[in-house]
Parts: sequence; structure tokens; C-alpha cells
Amino acid sequence: MQSILGIETSCDETGVALFQAGQGVVCERVYTQVDHEQYGGVVPELASRDHLRKLPGMIDEVLKAADISPKGLDAIAYTQGPGLAGALLVGASTAVSMAQALGIPAIGIHHMEGHLLSPLLDDPAPEFPFVALLVSGGHTLLVEVQGPGEYTILGETLDDAAGEAFDKTARLLGLGFPGGQEVAQMALAGDPNRFEFPRPMVNRPGLDFSFSGLKTHTRGLIGQCQPSDYPDIAAGFEQAVVDTIVIKCKRALKQTGLERLVMAGGVSANTHLRQALDAALPSRVYYPRPELCTDNGAMIAWAGWHRRHEGVMDGKIKVRPRWPLDELKSPRIT
Ligand code: KG4
Ligand code: ZN
Repeated sequence: MQSILGIETSCDETGVALFQAGQGVVCERVYTQVDHEQYGGVVPELASRDHLRKLPGMIDEVLKAADISPKGLDAIAYTQGPGLAGALLVGASTAVSMAQALGIPAIGIHHMEGHLLSPLLDDPAPEFPFVALLVSGGHTLLVEVQGPGEYTILGETLDDAAGEAFDKTARLLGLGFPGGQEVAQMALAGDPNRFEFPRPMVNRPGLDFSFSGLKTHTRGLIGQCQPSDYPDIAAGFEQAVVDTIVIKCKRALKQTGLERLVMAGGVSANTHLRQALDAALPSRVYYPRPELCTDNGAMIAWAGWHRRHEGVMDGKIKVRPRWPLDELKSPRIT
């Protein structure tokens, strides 16, 4: 099997990419939906409609740019879950019906496996085993990765995801959505030590996260301050998130005895977090290139390559909005 099309529609990014054996990802397109900004969060129905509007054209574009006809495809991988049900259904129904029409298998991919395997697309790729830190708007996970499909969840958030905490803080500070990058930008001009912020869960054993207390603390502080204090609040908030993540990552490596830490997800674009992890764990941290950190079709096509023997031709359109990562098994090899 040579050519696999990957389709990602689990949240607010429409991603399409083509993976070819021996060549890697030959072409990819990502469209980030913008309509959600005015609502301060992703509106599921709008997300589905936008995927529906964008996806067919993007598939055409990728195939044309890669100079391959649909008949040249060997399989279509799509995000089957977890994610927003309606958004997932757009990708799943497109992938399955296209695969049926072409008489090729469709491969349902776990979105988080896509993130976990994406660093292997980089050069140099980290070797297995490693600890993966996935920090995005929807997830905060620490996972022990022994190999493809061999995942043990070490810790996860009990409430808000790290990116969600950034986004909610951004909103309180009058910034846009998603606001992680804007909070980080504002923090550059602030003093992280002026106000005290809690470091949630660091004094408790274990590797779970909780960011909602930090958010409540930040909200209370903003209520007592002036806009001129906002950079100091942004800096203190960011520092608290970064410190918490660094402590948990060090703990995860110690607990597992593993040496490498691999980061993915939108929050891993945070410069301050990267610097702090680099300082705490010199030469042991891998970051995929920024396009691979956020949601994209390349990681789905790539995961599809790993699971190329698990494609089905039953024409069933099935999504799994909730799908625990540790239910996955190692890819079938034939
Ligand atoms: O992985 P991603 O693109 O989408 C999913 O949520 O799956 O992650 C988006 C999240 C948003 O919450 C955004 O605010 C956050 O990543 N983010 C950042 C930065 N860039 C993006 N958070 C902190 N600092 C950044 N520089
Ligand atoms: Zn994601």
C-alpha cells in the first residue's frame, strides 16, 4: 500500500494530507475556522457546517497538488474520535463514502494517537519509548509510549485542559479566542512575581492536572485589578501553568524511568514552556515542528499508515466522540 489520504475534523481545524510510502507527507492543507471567536469558544454546529463547506475542496486541492487522482489512493484514514460528534461525522462520512466509491479501505484513527505519533514525522525522530505530553485546547495528557498502540495514561486533567485555561484567562483579560498566544504575548511585558498564583496539584502525589482552581483565582484577581495590571496577571498565570507542567513532566520521567519527553498540542507552541522544559530536562525534550503541534491531517494520514492493515470496507459510518486512548491495541501487522 502506497498512498493514504488523511482527514481530520474532530474540532475546529479541517485538515487533509497525503502520505506516501517512502516519501512521507507529500502534501497537506489545514484550515482553521474563525467564526468561533465572537462566541468565545468552539460552537459545535458551526464547526460541523464549516467542515462540510471546506473539506471537499481541500481534498481536491491536496490530490491536485500531489498530482494524484482519487483512483491512485490505497486507503483513506479519518479521525473517528474523540471529538465533537457532528464535526467527526463530516470527516467520517466523507472518508467512508469516498472509500466505498473507490473500493478501498477506510481507516478510523484515534485523534490522540495522531498527536502521539506525529513527532515521528520529524527528523531526527525521537526513539521509543518516551513520555508524551499532550497539551491543547481539548486535552492535557501525560502518556507513556512504548511503541505504536502501546499507550499507558499516566495523568490527565481532572477539569479544564491547559489550553482551555489559557483561553478562559484570555477572555477575562479582554483578549481574543483562542487566546493562548495573546496571553503569552501580554505576559512578556509583565512581572510574573507581582501576584501570587497557586500551582495546582503539585503537592499531591500523582500525575493528574487541574486548572480550574487557577482559573478561579485569576478571575478573582482580575476583579480587583485595573487593566494596567493585566500584563502582570498574564505573566503570573502563565508562570503558574508552566511550573505545574514542568513539575509533572519531571515526575513522569522519574516514575517511568524513561529518558525522553515528547510534546505536542497547541500549548506546546508556548515559548516560555519550551524554555522551562529545556532548562529542566536538557537535551531530553522533543517538539514537533509547529504545524504538527496543532490539529492537522498529516498526523491522521501518518497514523493511518501505521494502521494500514486495519482498514475496513463495510461502508459503516461510525464515530466515537468519547474514546479512551488506552483502549487502543498495537497496530495489526500482516
Ligand atoms: O492543538 P490545538 O491547536 O487545538 C486543540 O485544542 O486540539 O490547541 C489549541 C490551544 C488553544 O487553547 C490555544 O490557546 C493554545 O492551544 N495555544 C497556546 C499558545 N498557542 C496556542 N497556549 C499558550 N501559549 C501559546 N503560545
Ligand atoms: Zn488535537
